[in-house]
Amino acid sequence: MSNSFMSSTFMNTTVVILAAGLGTRMRSKRAKVLHRAGGLALVEHVAAAAAAVAPHDRTIAVTGHQAEEVEAILEPRGIGFVRQIGQKGTGHALAACRERLQSLDGLLMVLYGDTPLLSPATLHRLRDLQSASGAAATLITTTLEDPSGYGRVILNGHGDVTAIVEEKAATPAQKSIQVINSGIYCFQAPLLWRHIVELRPNAASGELYLTDMAEILTRHGHRVGALHIEDPDELLGINTRVELADADRVLRERKCRELMLEGVTIERPETVTIDMHVRVGVDTVVEPFTRLLGSTQIGEECRIGAGAILESSVLADRVVVAPYTIVANSRIETGAQVGPFARLRPESHVGPDAHVGNFVELKKTHLGRGAKSQHLAYIGDSEIGAGVNIGAGTIFCNYDGQKKHKTRIGERAFIGSNSTLVAPIEIGPDSYVGAGSVITGDVPAEALALGRARQVVKPGWVKNRKKEPAPLNSKDGK
Ligand code: UD1
Ligand code: CA
Repeated sequence: MSNSFMSSTFMNTTVVILAAGLGTRMRSKRAKVLHRAGGLALVEHVAAAAAAVAPHDRTIAVTGHQAEEVEAILEPRGIGFVRQIGQKGTGHALAACRERLQSLDGLLMVLYGDTPLLSPATLHRLRDLQSASGAAATLITTTLEDPSGYGRVILNGHGDVTAIVEEKAATPAQKSIQVINSGIYCFQAPLLWRHIVELRPNAASGELYLTDMAEILTRHGHRVGALHIEDPDELLGINTRVELADADRVLRERKCRELMLEGVTIERPETVTIDMHVRVGVDTVVEPFTRLLGSTQIGEECRIGAGAILESSVLADRVVVAPYTIVANSRIETGAQVGPFARLRPESHVGPDAHVGNFVELKKTHLGRGAKSQHLAYIGDSEIGAGVNIGAGTIFCNYDGQKKHKTRIGERAFIGSNSTLVAPIEIGPDSYVGAGSVITGDVPAEALALGRARQVVKPGWVKNRKKEPAPLNSKDGK
């Protein structure tokens, strides 16, 4: 097929994504298409596949339930929206687009917003078959061992579709049909718009079923073709949370596979959760039970320890994230090490070769090159210079009950263990803070600051104390 044919077909294809339903079987207050699998809302997966077959200005999502939320998710893609007032079925949803779209000829593809595993390649096949066959419409079918819940496809002797029967209306004989309707259709747009007005409410549910178009077009002497797909996984329609978990598993598996083929080692990939947009560099090792979420980007030769959770964060090369560390909206530079059991809250920036150890919490903090905080510290709203050492148990008092204040520590300063730094405060380069100090004023460069009671020693105190031991529950027993 020549490129010019491909591109002219692309430009002449319209896509409608049906995303207005509530999804009763999810038993949720949220519209079904907002539920997430693989880290994205179901409808985002469908919109991503749609982008491969039609220009965004010929892509429409039909919204209804929680329309604002659904539209907000899809808005960045530049697609259009049509509101379906009252959710009276899939046929009613598509008919809501008639006024907006009926002047566009070419092909019209309909996708359901609850089929997140659909691949662009399959949509290309559907479009190419429809273009080549000259049928009025083509729909994707597959054979399922357990077809329950899906519409059954009635085929004639030539393999053309003459009707689709929904499960509720199916006779026992029809229920035994294993060829199902995927809910993905490609119509000749003018024929669809001419005949969609003939849809009538279903006797049982009162809804307009888009599936009835097969019978209507056939009745008018048109052909409706079927593209039979062998791999039914791709066509999974999500109606329940059980199916949502199935889709999530498939998407995670696909993502891990893709990364492994690109040169990432993933140990026990079945335990790892990686969102669709995450990127990982070659020779990075991902240990079991990690979660790499949102827009996280990881460089080359990193190690992500067991149970670590990284959300929308950026790691340069050769970073070690030891087990059970949580990192959110932060950045870690080359050669740095964080964890085990560290927590980097948003807007933290760990410099090259810096170390953040166990039970250290960072928030809105820049840690300079090679700086270290190895154990038990809270470090918030601060600028920490290169080579600084922060002792165990150091607390940055950044909040006075009303406002947050900054702490600045110059290069190579040494903060003794169990220090309390009361912000706003500035500690100069090459200075020392004695262990156990409460520091409330600035410390100049190269100074030693001590903010603690002087030690008192009482020689012979034990021998001199009262001979009779005090009773155990006595208040003045010391
Ligand atoms: C539908 C098909 C069925 C097919 C199955 C494939 C119909 C009548 N049946 O059934 O043949 O096997 O999909 O997954 O089409 N929606 C709206 N407005 C509405 C109703 C639904 O926008 O008024 C949207 C939903 O948000 C959803 C999609 O259409 O994304 C499909 O609706 P759903 O109720 O899940 O259809 P099924 O019963 O699964
Ligand atoms: Ca469905």
